[in-house]
Formats: sequence, structure tokens, C-alpha cells
Amino acid sequence: MSDAAVNEPHNLYAEGAAYVDGDYVPVGEARIPLTDLGFVRSDVTYDVVHVWNGKFFRLDDHLDRFETSCEKMRFSFEHTRDDLAAMLHQLVALTGFTDSYVNISASRGSFAPGSRDPLLCRNKIYAFAVPFVWITRQDEQEEGVDAIISSTQRIPMASMDQTVKNYHWADLTSSIIEANERGARLPILLDENGNVTEGPGFNVFAYCNGKLYTPDTGVLHGMTRRTVLELAGKQNVETLVEPVPLATLKNADEVFLSSTAGGVMPIRSLDGETFGDGAPGPFTTRMRQLYWEAHDDPEYAEPVRYAAV
Ligand SMILES: Cc1ncc(COP(=O)(O)O)c(C=O)c1O
Repeated sequence: MSDAAVNEPHNLYAEGAAYVDGDYVPVGEARIPLTDLGFVRSDVTYDVVHVWNGKFFRLDDHLDRFETSCEKMRFSFEHTRDDLAAMLHQLVALTGFTDSYVNISASRGSFAPGSRDPLLCRNKIYAFAVPFVWITRQDEQEEGVDAIISSTQRIPMASMDQTVKNYHWADLTSSIIEANERGARLPILLDENGNVTEGPGFNVFAYCNGKLYTPDTGVLHGMTRRTVLELAGKQNVETLVEPVPLATLKNADEVFLSSTAGGVMPIRSLDGETFGDGAPGPFTTRMRQLYWEAHDDPEYAEPVRYAAV
């Protein structure tokens, strides 16, 4: 190695930082036991919060959702709410990222020797911060993306409570493959009654005759979905959180997706049928603008404690 290389400052956390079992490590070095039921049984819940321009977006609300998911999974931890928040601040501070995708996961842990009782496992917290992740590219956010209705049904609520953020992604992953094979970019999945649910990493909205519709059940209560509903309400737009038949989506004036990993994302066409003239509609464009502006609103934004490291 040259002297120059030795003397170069080397950021251990340039690709991200992780928290595993009380230690902070470079993300590429983070390891979990193979026997962790989070890995072998998908017995895990998680949340993703993002940092934008050096500020967490709705950190408290994300931690509320995470704690509710953990209660539903019957996970428990010694970590307090303040510990969890401090951990996420620390991870981002280690990386120095100003725009970051921050994942916190709670897993069942491993079975105690000789036991098959999930409630006897010592539950684990893992977390990592990596550069911000986008579901769609910048040009796609400006022009809209082509979507399909997947032939795979979303895992029903009777089998999996979709309000608990989870990694049961078989239906979502096969739908992504189907969308690609059908020449589209993203899939939207229906429920057992033929109503709209969500897609891989996002909620779905239909804007029709001045009203905004999004499904009430069978979906994660996305933080971006909640933000969009709040922002639309402030614009005096009527919001309806109720079953959304496929026909409502197909006949909508505008359709868009919402996700922490990309914000508000316009849909250009569904199953080959273009919405309007194919350009993102004025309501979607306004929501996208308001969503990103909200990142400077102290009601939602909390500066990362970079100085703490
Ligand atoms: C299945 C599913 N639905 C919806 C969302 C959007 O939720 P949020 O806006 O909180 O990112 C996600 C996010 O990953 C998701 O995985």
C-alpha cells in the first residue's frame, strides 16, 4: 500500500453502519446468527425511517409504529424508546450521511436449546443506516411509471396482519418479476375480494373527481400514506380510506404510489392503459411537491445529532 493510501482518511462507515448486539459496525461486517428465526422463519418485524437533508422524517411516528408491531409480534426488549432513537441517531452520525435509509428490525432470536417455544426466545434488535434508497429513478418520478395488476393475490389479513411491517415478500417479489416480464415497472396487488391493496414497498392512491382514495385494509399503514392524507386534508381535499375496487383505480384521473423509499410516485399507465395524456397529473405533482416541502417542517423533521459521535 502506498504512503498516500495509508495517510488517506478512511471512513469505515462509507457504505453504512449497523447495530448488532450492542455493537456498531460497518454495514458490510454486520452478522446475525443463522439460527435466528428472523432469518429462517421470517419471524421479524421492521421499520424504515429516512433522513433527508440531515433531518429524520417523522422519527417518533416510525418508532410508535415499530413498537406497536413488536407488541403484536409479542417481542420485548430492554431498550427504551430513547435508546432506540439514540441508536438510530448514532448510526446516521457514524456514516455522516445527510440522506439515508434507516432500518430498525426486531427479530424473534434463536430457540433456547431443546425448546421450540417462540415465547422463550431472547428477542433481538438490529439496525442499519445506508444511503437513501429510491424505488423509482428520478426520471420516473417526473414522468410516471407503468404498472400492472399482478396475477398474484396479496397475502390476506386473515393470514398475516399487514399493518405489522414484515418480510413475507413472496407475493410481492413474484409480482415484481411478473411486472418486468410484462414490460412494466411495478405491480399492484389485489385482495381476495378483488380490491386494491398495495405493492412492493408502497401504498396506492387514486384521485377521482376531486377526491382521494386509498385502501383501508390489507395494507401497511405507510408513513408516507399518512403524510399524504394529512397534506391532502390541509388542501381541503376529501380523503376516503375505504375499500378501493379495481374499477376505481382503472377509472381514476390520477394514480400514484407512496413510500419512504421515494415519496410520491406517479403512475403513467395501468395494464397498458394510460392515465390522461400520460404526464403526471396536477394533483399528484402538487402532493409530491408538498411532501418534499414537509421535510423542513419542524412538525415532521428532527435534526440528526451528528455531533454526538
Ligand atoms: C408492503 C409495504 N406497503 C407500504 C409501504 C410504504 O410505507 P412507508 O410509507 O411507511 O414507507 C411499505 C414500505 O416499505 C411496504 O413495505
